[in-house]
Amino acid sequence: MAPLIRTRNLHLTYPDGTKALDGIDIELFEGEIIGLIGQNGSGKSTLSKCLNATLEPSKGTVEIDGTATTDEQNSGDIVEKVGYVFQNPDHQLFNRTVWDEIAYGPRNLDMEEEKVEERVREAAEVAGVHEQRFEEHPNLLTKGLRQRVAIASILSMKPDTIIVDEPTTGQDARQSLEIMNFLQQLQSEEDRTIIIVTHIIPIVQQYCDRVICLRNGKKLLEDEPKVVFNQPEELAKSAVQPSQIARLSHSLSGEFPDVETPYLTPDEAIEDFGSKYGR
Ligand SMILES: Nc1ncnc2c1ncn2[C@@H]1O[C@H](COP(=O)(O)OP(=O)(O)OP(=O)(O)O)[C@@H](O)[C@H]1O
Ligand SMILES: [Mg+2]
Repeated sequence: MAPLIRTRNLHLTYPDGTKALDGIDIELFEGEIIGLIGQNGSGKSTLSKCLNATLEPSKGTVEIDGTATTDEQNSGDIVEKVGYVFQNPDHQLFNRTVWDEIAYGPRNLDMEEEKVEERVREAAEVAGVHEQRFEEHPNLLTKGLRQRVAIASILSMKPDTIIVDEPTTGQDARQSLEIMNFLQQLQSEEDRTIIIVTHIIPIVQQYCDRVICLRNGKKLLEDEPKVVFNQPEELAKSAVQPSQIARLSHSLSGEFPDVETPYLTPDEAIEDFGSKYGR
């Protein structure tokens, strides 16, 4: 199967000289849920922005369906192919009402107002944004709700691939789970490809088919979660907290019977994680 998205030797250097991506080669396939992890500043958000052409590579390429994002053939419809929900919803939300925010993308795609309305209602429902909120100002909502509005405003464009950067920031563990559940539902019912950028390992463990771990702008590890998280020495290089690894071997012990600690369900692991780290 040909990859939906592929990067080849992707480099990104910011104008101030910061080398954020240093030769990344990844392939993402239709219907996958990918966890993108790595220490602060390792390049996760930069890579995400390259995948939807918010940033243009300094060197190397990003291909979507076999065509480079810089190719004229792709201009204009990348937003329908790859949607990126910003790490901080405040960098994404700029409309006066929740409705206008979620309608912004479809209106930009020149859809008729009736179709726009259908898209807005559908996206709002799936993201858990209730009708009573439609006329409210996004800035007055809680951070968790702003994140949902940010997600809805991407879903309304129905991109094939959805990248959610840190869906758990500003959410408690319960809200994070709800968001992850609906992303998973989207993946299974509509065959969307989902990329989740997160620091919360139990989330990756529970929901992702594959994990990509970055370190200093390079790909350090790429495999199924149980394989990646069974390499604590390698992971330590990426500064994923040893306590997280310990917790992880806890939760994986059901699959690795030689580990004596009791098995934690992913739900318990997140709860546990949340209570210790205030997430
Ligand atoms: N606009 C920018 N200009 C210059 N340097 C930047 C810019 N944005 C990010 N960087 C730098 O690029 C590197 C990669 O940053 P990026 O935000 O992609 O990392 P990240 O893995 O998403 O980090 P975090 O976990 O903190 O969100 C870091 O060194 C960061 O300081
Ligand atoms: Mg980031």
